[in-house]
This record gives sequence, structure tokens and C-alpha cells, in this order.
Amino acid sequence: MAVDELLGPSGITCEGEGRDIIEALAEVPDLWDVNLSNWSNDSQTSRFSEEGFQEPYIRFVKSVTTKPVVGVGRYTSPDSMARVIKQGIMDFIGAARPSIADPFLPVKIEEGRIDDIRECIGCNICTSGDNTSVPMRCTQNPTVGEEWRKGWHPERIAAAETTDAVLVIGGGPAGLEAARALAQRGLDVTMAEAGREWGGRVSRESRLPGLATWARVRDWRVGQLKTYQNAQMYLQSPLSAEDILQYGIPHIAIATGSHWRGDGVGRTHCLPLDYLQAGVTVSPDALLSDGAKAVPVDGPVVVFDDDCFYMRSVLAELLAAFGRKVTFVTPEAQVSPWSNHTLEQARVQRRLIDLDVTIITAHCLSSRTADTLELACIYSGKTRSIDCAALVPVTARLPDESLWHHLTARRDEWADAGIQSVTRIGDCLAPGLIAAANYSGHQYAREFGTTPSRDAVPFLREDIAMFRSTVLAGTM
Ligand SMILES: Cc1cc2nc3c(=O)[nH]c(=O)nc-3n(C[C@H](O)[C@H](O)[C@H](O)COP(=O)(O)O)c2cc1C
Ligand code: SF4
Repeated sequence: MAVDELLGPSGITCEGEGRDIIEALAEVPDLWDVNLSNWSNDSQTSRFSEEGFQEPYIRFVKSVTTKPVVGVGRYTSPDSMARVIKQGIMDFIGAARPSIADPFLPVKIEEGRIDDIRECIGCNICTSGDNTSVPMRCTQNPTVGEEWRKGWHPERIAAAETTDAVLVIGGGPAGLEAARALAQRGLDVTMAEAGREWGGRVSRESRLPGLATWARVRDWRVGQLKTYQNAQMYLQSPLSAEDILQYGIPHIAIATGSHWRGDGVGRTHCLPLDYLQAGVTVSPDALLSDGAKAVPVDGPVVVFDDDCFYMRSVLAELLAAFGRKVTFVTPEAQVSPWSNHTLEQARVQRRLIDLDVTIITAHCLSSRTADTLELACIYSGKTRSIDCAALVPVTARLPDESLWHHLTARRDEWADAGIQSVTRIGDCLAPGLIAAANYSGHQYAREFGTTPSRDAVPFLREDIAMFRSTVLAGTM
């Protein structure tokens, strides 16, 4: 099925006119660079496709031309790349997102440094930058878009001028990246994580349907950290303010993450919805930790999405896959509208439809009984009632910042304890995307030991006067 012009059976396909065109022009170009149209088919995410997903469509090209062929399809592993060449499917591997995640991918393969490759996770946060006209960000590579603006080299980072020790508390994406980059700078790093595994939200989210590759955010960083003798890592090590004051490590980075709020407050509902307590409410965090069994009652589950990105739809998918009857309610006009920026929206909505999830758009919450939920149309205010044994509100997150508050309450004791700085990073500072947490951790490590000016713009800006006098005047 295709609603786009020229796509699908009514358009240009690899079995029909697409093949005819390439056969007709077979020897004309010096090289064939082949890929799928449109962009949402070309840059498919790992949630919806495997590595090499374009092969079925482009593998015929080599058989109709003697010219070299290059293609794409989120090739992130050297083994897959070697297979494609050995099987004669292509002569070159194109790698757009894999190169964004790791611009030094080819060098690392050449040098046999396979474990050093920072593999793309296929999340398309990079495309969201393009689609929202803001600087590009990458969930794996925090230096993307800052190479020129901030002088952040993807591989190199200046050695620290101080030899002070740093304690990083929390082993999620921000903590892991901060510790890794601090260790790369030669600092003495200690990492403490309260839980039994590294990765924090990345580990929990990677267990959701279709998100397994996201664990690479954790795996690459843990793997790199293990190569540094100046990094010590401790699991199952919850720390209190008292512990930290006793250790007396001079610099503390608090990366304790965030949690989903359960009171309904978010983009649509500005005040806590007390009526939610009339029935069973299950937090997204409970589903992330315990899966579908976190819902303690039988009957229909309603997932209310005020987050508008991936979390709500993967939770609905999780529950539906366990045989739960799921209703998806959103104040928006479509399911997960922010997924348009990651080119996934149509696939997300289609998947929920395929899973028989009931979708109710343009409605917010209005009131509740033990087994019903009243919804209100966001345009007319007209209400309707639906069956609801359990509600999962996916609205907004709050920082897990109690340790920060306990420590700052004892600021007077810092000097005697030898503590010079305490800094919040990642979701503990501002809950956001995994890419933002990773960026925040990296930024902390990059700027460690420097005193950023409060007044200066913290990155280079294009010089419009120079642009006018060179580019527009034709001298460049
Ligand atoms: C952030 C981003 C920007 C892109 N911009 C362009 C573009 O301007 N022109 C183009 O032909 N393809 C563009 N692409 C598509 C890629 O060149 C490539 O065909 C696609 O991502 C599939 O390759 P991959 O699986 O190796 O990422 C872009 C892809 C990404 C992720
Ligand atoms: S943002 Fe995600 S998809 Fe894009 S290059 Fe980075 S890891 Fe890959």
C-alpha cells in the first residue's frame, strides 16, 4: 500500500519500471548509487527494519550493469558489510547514519578496532534535526553538529589540566558518557550505580518491542570504560549525601535520571488530575521494569499519550503483544506525531492498527470511575466514556534529584569534606531524549576544568558580515 505518488504497485517498483530504467541506462553512469524512495523508506529505523533492509530491492542492479554499485540500508556491522560485498550484492557500502554515529567507522574497520566502533542504533534522532530545522543531534555520537561550532572532535578530546578525581553517580546514558569522556581526558573517575545493571533508562527501554539495538548506547560506553585503568565502576552502590561527604571526592556529577509522573500533568493537563486515583493507574516506569505483568488487574488498559513520541506507542505494543485489550488515547490528531520527525509515524500507527489497538485521537482526560474513563474532545469539550480497568498515563517526567537536594542542603560541609563542585547532568537536570542525556554527559566532561563565560555565546556563530563579503560577493 502506498499513498505517496510513484510508490508501490501504481508507481515505480524494482520489479517493473525501476528495473527497466536501470537496464536502459545500465552502462551510462560511472557508478550506480541506488536506494529506496521516499526518505521514510530510505532511512528506516531499527524499530521497523533490520540491517540491510534495502537489499531485496536493489540486489538486481549488479546483474544488469558492469558499473560499480553502491547502496545503503543502515549497515553498522563490518560482518554485514563484508557479506554484502562477498555475495556480490554491491561493490561499495554506503553508510549515512552509521557514519553520523561514528565518522571514523572506516578507519576502525581498517585498523581492526571493531570494538571501538560506535554503532548507530537506528533511532533517527538525526533526521529529526533536519525535519525541525535545528542542529543535528545523534543518540550515539554527542559531538555531531558541534565539530565546528564547539570544536568537538568525534574521537579526540584534550587531556585534562587537573588530576582531580571525579565521582559520577548514576550509570545511565549521561553518567556513562560523562565517565567515559572524563576517563579519556585522563581524570581519575569513579562510577557508582544503585541498580544491578549499567545503562539506566537505555537498558530498560531496549527491552521494549523493537528497541533492542538501543542497548548499544550502553554497551559501547561500558566497553570503552573497561579499557581505562583510571576508571572504576561499581554496581549496586546506592550513595547517600552522607556517603559522598565522607568519601571527599572533589568533583561530583549527579546523573540519577528521571521518572514518569503519575498525576497526569503534561502538555495538555497543567494541574494534577486527582480523579485518576479513582481507579488503577500504572506508571510507565512499572511497565519498563516489570513488563505487562505490572498491570495488576484484568480488563481493558488505556494508554494516555501526552508525550507524543515513541514511549506511549511501544508500551501499547508491549501490552497488546501480551494479549491485553488496549485503547490508545491522544489529544493529538494522530498517534505519536513527533515520530513524523523520525520518519516513523505512519509505521507506528499502522503497527497499532495491526495489533487491534483502539485509537482515539483529539481527546484528553476528563474524569474517572473504578472501571471507566471519561474523555473530552479537545475541540468541542463533548465527553464520552470508555471501559478502563487500568490507565497508563504517559505525560511528562520529573528529575530524580533528591540526592542533589540532600547534598546542596549540606553545602556548608563541602569545603571540609574536600568537595569543590556538585553538578547535575542528563535527565536529572532536564528530562529529555537519550541523545540529550548523552550530550549533557559529554558536555560536562568536555568542559570539566574550564570556566565557561556567563556572557559569551558558548559556540561559534556564522559571521554574517563575512558571509556577505565572501560567499555573496563570489570570492569564496
Ligand atoms: C540526517 C540525514 C540527512 C540526510 N540528508 C539527505 C540528503 O540531503 N540527500 C539525500 O539524497 N539523502 C539524504 N539522506 C539519506 C541518506 O543519504 C541515506 O540514503 C539513508 O539514510 C539510508 O542510508 P543509511 O541506512 O546508511 O543511513 C539523509 C539521511 C539522514 C539520516
Ligand atoms: S541519531 Fe540514531 S539513527 Fe541517527 S546516526 Fe545517531 S544513532 Fe544512528
